[in-house]
Amino acid sequence: MKVAIGSDHAGFSVKNRIMKYLKSKSIDVQDFGTDSEEPVDYPDVAVKIARAVADSDFDTGILVCGTGIGMAITANKIPGIRAAVCYNEETARLSREHNQANILTLGARQFSWPDIQRFVEVFLETPFQNGNRHERRIKKIHQLTQR
Ligand code: RB5
Repeated sequence: MKVAIGSDHAGFSVKNRIMKYLKSKSIDVQDFGTDSEEPVDYPDVAVKIARAVADSDFDTGILVCGTGIGMAITANKIPGIRAAVCYNEETARLSREHNQANILTLGARQFSWPDIQRFVEVFLETPFQNGNRHERRIKKIHQLTQR
């Protein structure tokens, strides 16, 4: 599995912890920045990862900002991206099973590290639940970008 990861300044330290965690599990992870706690604009990071995932250079993206919201809003502008702001284990699981989310966005300022680690773990280990109704709904979402 190839994972692209990025953050703004608010998510910088959590991004580094997630990278360390993924590497400890031998998951191939590539860092798209930012590289410090100097303020940056989250759309600049989100768009790079969203394009890389949409182009199939990576299986999954992880984006971290203060709330996860700005990253999701930006990433979802890119056709083919289904970015999900996950806020508990269940949303991490259902975003994969039902929505086939290909980017996880996280709010570094909203959760403790053990919670974030668990959201990442659940998101990455959960497969899409193939089935007529989920595929039909995802196709409808995709069609919105084809107009
Ligand atoms: C940065 O202060 C903050 O606005 C950003 O990290 C994020 O929460 C935006 O959605």
